[in-house]
Parts: sequence; structure tokens; C-alpha cells
Amino acid sequence: MATLGLCFAVLTSILATALCQSARAQERKAPAVGGFESKLEYCKTCHGLSGQGYLGYFPMPRLAGQQPEYIEAQLRAFIERRRSNPVMFNVAHVLSPSMISALANHFYHLNPPPSDGAPRRAVALGKQIFEEGLPESNVPACSACHGEDGHGQHEIPRLAGQLYPYMVGQLTGWSKERGQGTAVDTSAIMAPTAHNLTRSQVEAVAAYVSNLR
Ligand code: HEC
Ligand code: HEC
Repeated sequence: MATLGLCFAVLTSILATALCQSARAQERKAPAVGGFESKLEYCKTCHGLSGQGYLGYFPMPRLAGQQPEYIEAQLRAFIERRRSNPVMFNVAHVLSPSMISALANHFYHLNPPPSDGAPRRAVALGKQIFEEGLPESNVPACSACHGEDGHGQHEIPRLAGQLYPYMVGQLTGWSKERGQGTAVDTSAIMAPTAHNLTRSQVEAVAAYVSNLR
């Protein structure tokens, strides 16, 4: 009887340990969920509550509806300093690969309306550049890569609804920020087009796409 009692005690304690361990495993999962929510909130303090972008001291680009592969590729570019930006380096280098995928997937499913504010006067020229390019300046139609609707695909970004000042800044300063380092990356695909656009052409096409849904 005494042996049985001992056995029972041992069994219960093994069971208790096992239960405890699975509870601890649950606890380990729980902060991961909380970790995601708090990271997301952090992103939204700059990129807007629905990922619509925000005009602060710097323009914070729209992430809503952005292609997940593009978001992931850019976060890796910030981490590897192929895209030099001190703010986003600090934000990105602590993110795990699974957190990066989860955040990218979340932003892709948001769909706020474009925030207005781009000058309207050159929109017709912008539409023409977007759909037909400027053959005389070696500028291909943006729609050929970014899609007829400007929604992008895979590592080619969505431009529809992107903030006007952000796009003007990117297109006029392309090679100051992107394609840093020795390895050639996807930024090289866009570089000649960015260089071949004049500032007023950049403003026209940015004004047009910033209002696309
Ligand atoms: C302190 C403000 C701030 C925070 C917080 C922040 N960002 Fe950013 N983010 C920026 C700025 C500014 C840029 C534009 C950088 C540039 O000009 O190249 C940017 C750019 C990006 C880009 C590139 C977008 C594009 O269209 O190329 C991605 C992707 C991005 N952020 C994702 C995130 C994610 C995910 C988080 C949260 C983990 C986050 N950001 C948090 C300020 C912030
Ligand atoms: C040959 C394909 C191709 C064509 C044509 C093209 N793009 Fe791009 N574009 C890309 C790729 C690829 C990227 C992502 C670059 C990177 O990874 O840094 C990009 C990025 C951009 C970005 C940065 C977006 C962001 O969120 O930071 C803007 C703005 C842009 N393109 C505007 C244009 C405009 C305007 C045109 C037409 C005048 C155009 N593109 C034509 C391939 C193309």
C-alpha cells in the first residue's frame, strides 16, 4: 500500500510538472501575440492608425494595401543598410523574420481611402506618364510594372494612394537612399526611371497615383 501511495505521489508530481510545463509553453506563446499587438501599435504611431501614412517631420509612407513581399524586402533592405534610413534601421533591426511576415500581412489587408492633398493641376500629365511613359526620355509606362491599377505585385510596390510628398522625395532622391552597399538589389530596376524623370514630371505622376484607390 505504501509503495502504491508513493507511486501515486510520484505520478501526480510528474503530471503536475507536465501540466506546469504546458502552461508555461502557453505563457511563452501569449507574449508573442501581445508582442505582435504592441509592435503593430508602434508602427501605427508613425504610419497612421489604418496604415494610411502620415505627414510628420518626415512623410511616413502609406503601408495599407502594400504588397507583403515588398514590405518584407524593404525591411530587410533597411536592416542590411542597402536602403539607408536611420529611423527605419532602428525600428527594423530588432524584428524577427516571423514578426516581419505577420506585420506585412496585417498591413496588406487594410484599405483606408487615400489621404488627399496633392496638387491637382498636373494630374492629366501624370496619368499619361503612368499609362504610356515618356518614350522620348526613356521612361517606361509605370503601369507595366506597378499594374494598371497601381496595386503592384510581389516586390514591386503598390503606388495607389501613396503619399504625394513621400513619393516626390523618393523619386527625386532615389540613389541617395536606395541601392547602397555592394550587392545589386531590386532598387536597380527602378533607378533609371527615377533618374530620367524631371522634377515636374515626378510631381505630375505622384499627384496622379496618390489619388488612386
Ligand atoms: C518613428 C517613426 C516610424 C516608426 C515607429 C515606424 N516607421 Fe516605418 N517608416 C518611417 C519613415 C520616416 C519611413 C520613410 C523612410 C524613407 O524615407 O525612406 C518609413 C518607411 C517604412 C517602410 C518602407 C515603405 C515603402 O513604401 O517603401 C516600411 C515597409 C516600414 N516603414 C515599415 C514599418 C513597420 C512594419 C513598422 C513597425 C514595426 C514601422 N515602419 C515603424 C517611420 C517609422
Ligand atoms: C521595370 C519595372 C518598373 C517600372 C517601369 C517602374 N517601376 Fe517603380 N518600382 C519598380 C520596383 C522593382 C520598385 C521597388 C524598388 C526597390 O526594391 O527599392 C519600384 C519602386 C517605386 C517607387 C517607390 C515606392 C515606395 O513605396 O517607396 C516609386 C514611387 C515608383 N516605383 C514609381 C514609379 C513611377 C512613377 C514609374 C513610371 C514613371 C515607375 N515606378 C516605373 C519597378 C518599376
